[in-house]
Amino acid sequence: MLKGRSLIEPLNLSLEEMDELFSLAEKIEAEPACLQKSCRGKVLATLFFEPSTRTRLSFEAAMLRLGGNCLGFAEPGSSSVSKGESLADTVRTVSCYADIIVMRNPKEGAALLASRYAQAPLINAGDGGHHHPTQTLTDLLTIRRLKGAIGNIKVGFCGDLRFGRTVHSLVGALSRYAGIEMVFISPPELRIPEYLRGMLQKEHIPCEETGSLENVIGSLDVLYMTRVQQERFFNEEDYIRLKDSYILNGNKMELARKDMIVLHPLPRVNEIALEVDDDPRAVYFKQAKYGMYVRMALLASILGVNRAEYC
Ligand code: NCD
Repeated sequence: MLKGRSLIEPLNLSLEEMDELFSLAEKIEAEPACLQKSCRGKVLATLFFEPSTRTRLSFEAAMLRLGGNCLGFAEPGSSSVSKGESLADTVRTVSCYADIIVMRNPKEGAALLASRYAQAPLINAGDGGHHHPTQTLTDLLTIRRLKGAIGNIKVGFCGDLRFGRTVHSLVGALSRYAGIEMVFISPPELRIPEYLRGMLQKEHIPCEETGSLENVIGSLDVLYMTRVQQERFFNEEDYIRLKDSYILNGNKMELARKDMIVLHPLPRVNEIALEVDDDPRAVYFKQAKYGMYVRMALLASILGVNRAEYC
């Protein structure tokens, strides 16, 4: 259904298309043999100009589980980019070797630009502080699996809402579902960008902004914690002052509902105390696993796998 398409931001997918991806990911989770070997002979290129653990490895794991192969770089210093090659020339070249490209780049808009030059479909694995659509698919699948549905929930976003691309992508995607309320918890310097505030107002999505996690945690169905994005700060002093603005710990979890779930795209730095990991409401490692299933569904779909043939 997504055959040959690139994915630059979540809004490139309709709600129906996302729903189909989630159903397929759930099927793969329930029946691991589903889609096995369906991408035999296909090659995935992962071009990571920024560090990554989960996104890159879950894409590679997804492709290997589908029976395909992977190549690429995790360190731009090891590619000809370090000799001054342009992004356009890099993706044009990689398109000769791969059937699909996953790229992360520190510049906003890099994925869209690269997709215009690539001869193969390109998936944005993060472009600066802009978008991260496959993390959004991961987050939404986690909510769907653990809360039963994506609508009619109150979601709190806490931490660096200014630079966090996973927040930007998820806010946009969630705003299309019915009955969503959002609470934005951040220091004044790290509030959500103005364009998102405008979009939420225009769509009449109920939302509030606050500086206090304690005051609102008891009303949330989902708490989305984020790391303060050190690499996007203009000066070290500001980062040091803001980095520990919020630390979710056992005491704060006591104020939360018994059925609230805590998501985090990871990596975590200090914003969730280790003691929270044992709380059944802490689901961020499950979330990382759902990320692999939904990326399997996405790759198979873009590569045009006929689902009926394989599961
Ligand atoms: C996120 C990212 O790269 O934006 N990580 C991820 O892909 N899971 C979040 C982050 O780096 O803070």
